Amino acid sequence: MIAWILVLVVIAPGALLAAEVPAACESCHPFEQEQIAATAHARLLGGDGRPGCQGCHGENPEHGISDGKTPIFAFKGLTSREINERCLACHAEKPAVPGFQRSEHAQGGLNCLQCHHPHLYKSKSAILITAQPVELCQSCHVEVKAQFRLDEHHRVPEGALTCMDCHEPHGSMNQHQLKGAGDSVCFKCHMEKRGPFLFEHAVVRAEGCMTCHVPHGSANRHLLKQQEVRLLCLSCHPVHPQFINQATTRFQDCTRCHVKIHGSNFSPRFFE
Ligand code: HEC
Ligand code: HEC
Ligand code: HEC
Ligand code: HEC
Ligand code: HEC
Ligand code: HEC
Ligand code: HEC
Ligand code: HEC
Ligand code: HEC
Ligand code: HEC
Repeated sequence: MIAWILVLVVIAPGALLAAEVPAACESCHPFEQEQIAATAHARLLGGDGRPGCQGCHGENPEHGISDGKTPIFAFKGLTSREINERCLACHAEKPAVPGFQRSEHAQGGLNCLQCHHPHLYKSKSAILITAQPVELCQSCHVEVKAQFRLDEHHRVPEGALTCMDCHEPHGSMNQHQLKGAGDSVCFKCHMEKRGPFLFEHAVVRAEGCMTCHVPHGSANRHLLKQQEVRLLCLSCHPVHPQFINQATTRFQDCTRCHVKIHGSNFSPRFFE
């Protein structure tokens, strides 16, 4: 009796291995193999102990042995969090997408597969469902898309800028997934507004660009929040007390005289 058990224990595992090693994934899935081989993930397929398809689909020899009848991990029926965890198992390291789980996108229930598809490779710079990142963003952010249609806008629709000039799709330490804190995201391109100036317009420094401007698009000149510059100024400043008796029209166009409205090195009143 004891001898029989020993025989089973010693022989059975060897027999199993010899008879039931599953065929390689690509022998049954040549199409997927070809797709992945065209992506950055091709590096995962190189053998040398690299995880191959299993890096994403897990180890389940029964799947191949049963000719696909035993299910294998295929990202189906999972929560966004579970999908993200699967991808982040590798993407905590290079190329890393740090902070994704804390991002507005993750909080809003998004997962990697709503923007990326590991099997579809249309852009060499990133694995995306759509080749055009801006279109991808605007497919969900329709109100932002509408803002970029307004008369004055950063030329995102024209292709001069992309959402990623200002935003980080995987989240950042800043509000609104912005790439920089405060106005630094603007200074990347509008350096001349950075200062420091001998005479700062206190509000620009303390409250920032968004006090007077909108970032995407506006019906108003210069992406301003108000149609009339005057009303914008008067929301903080009283009308000139010392000019109260003068014909008011002369003073309507505030920035005609206060030209250096973002700060000046020459005039405390921001004249030319
Ligand atoms: C002997 C052939 C065979 C081998 C080897 C094989 N598969 Fe499959 N696989 C199939 C078949 C057949 C299906 C379709 C099953 C179905 O639709 O019910 C399938 C389906 C799948 C699916 C989709 C599952 C789903 O739920 O939609 C994935 C993912 C997959 N295989 C990955 C792999 C990976 C990774 C390997 C290697 C580790 C592998 N397969 C090896 C035959 C195989
Ligand atoms: C980087 C991760 C990753 C790698 C590597 C990967 N896959 Fe996939 N695969 C996925 C994801 C994610 C899905 C599910 C996509 C979806 O449902 O939108 C998927 C889906 C599939 C499917 C189901 C296709 C369908 O249309 O339902 C098969 C089959 C499959 N993979 C096979 C493979 C094989 C074979 C390899 C290796 C050559 C491989 N995958 C490598 C992530 C990966
Ligand atoms: C087994 C580890 C592993 C897993 C799991 C994995 N990746 Fe990757 N991924 C990598 C590596 C390594 C690279 C970098 C390849 C290179 O640049 O050589 C990469 C690159 C990428 C890139 C960048 C491509 C580029 O062109 O820069 C994207 C996007 C990506 N992966 C998305 C995903 C998504 C989405 C998932 C989950 C479905 C996923 N990855 C799962 C290892 C993995
Ligand atoms: C809202 C859409 C979106 C989601 C969700 C998303 N990505 Fe991305 N991802 C992008 C875009 C857009 C790029 C290209 C960034 C660029 O061009 O600056 C990118 C680039 C990447 C890259 C290339 C390296 C890099 O940082 O540029 C990797 C790797 C990557 N994503 C992995 C992931 C993983 C893993 C997840 C899920 C945890 C994920 N992404 C979720 C949109 C997204
Ligand atoms: C020139 C920089 C810049 C570009 C380009 C840009 N954004 Fe923004 N975006 C911002 C700033 C700054 C804010 C924060 C506004 C605030 O503080 O009131 C913001 C806010 C947002 C918000 C949250 C508030 C809202 O208006 O709904 C979303 C969503 C958004 N952007 C999406 C996008 C998308 C999608 C694109 C590309 C189509 C894009 N952004 C392009 C700078 C930019
Ligand atoms: C699949 C839909 C989807 C796609 C694609 C998508 N987003 Fe989002 N985005 C969301 C959801 C949902 C939220 C969180 C809820 C909210 O604030 O609207 C969000 C939040 C944001 C926020 C923060 C909004 C705030 O109020 O602070 C920004 C910025 C943003 N997305 C930019 C982008 C950019 C840039 C892209 C393209 C790379 C993109 N999104 C692609 C759905 C999407
Ligand atoms: C107090 C309100 C206010 C603030 C704050 C403000 N701006 Fe302006 N900005 C204006 C006004 C008003 C104009 C139009 C000037 C005119 O009529 O000639 C303007 C025009 C501009 C212009 C186009 C004309 C030019 O001078 O180049 C740019 C670019 C600009 N602002 C960028 C910025 C940036 C970047 C910030 C943040 C550092 C900022 N603004 C903060 C009020 C403001
Ligand atoms: C990637 C570069 C880039 C970034 C980042 C950027 N801008 Fe601009 N901005 C431009 C360019 C280029 C123009 C002028 C051409 C155009 O797009 O119409 C412009 C135009 C403007 C104008 C209108 C100028 C006019 O004459 O009417 C304002 C106001 C402005 N930007 C403010 C901002 C603010 C505020 C931020 C930060 C949220 C910002 N920009 C971030 C590139 C940038
Ligand atoms: C959001 C509020 C706000 C807006 C809008 C605003 N300012 Fe100011 N402005 C200030 C503050 C605060 C100071 C600093 C006042 C101080 O130091 O006593 C200031 C200072 C000034 C000064 C110098 C005043 C002095 O006493 O030296 C001038 C000139 C000026 N602003 C003109 C304008 C004009 C023109 C506009 C419209 C384009 C405008 N401001 C829009 C808040 C604002
Ligand atoms: C015709 C040129 C001109 C126009 C237009 C003009 N200002 Fe002035 N502003 C001045 C002069 C000159 C001073 C300096 C007065 C002084 O030094 O005593 C001044 C001073 C100021 C000051 C500093 C505080 C004060 O009372 O000394 C503020 C704030 C101001 N203007 C806001 C505005 C606003 C808001 C508008 C638009 C409604 C405007 N200005 C239009 C010429 C102008």
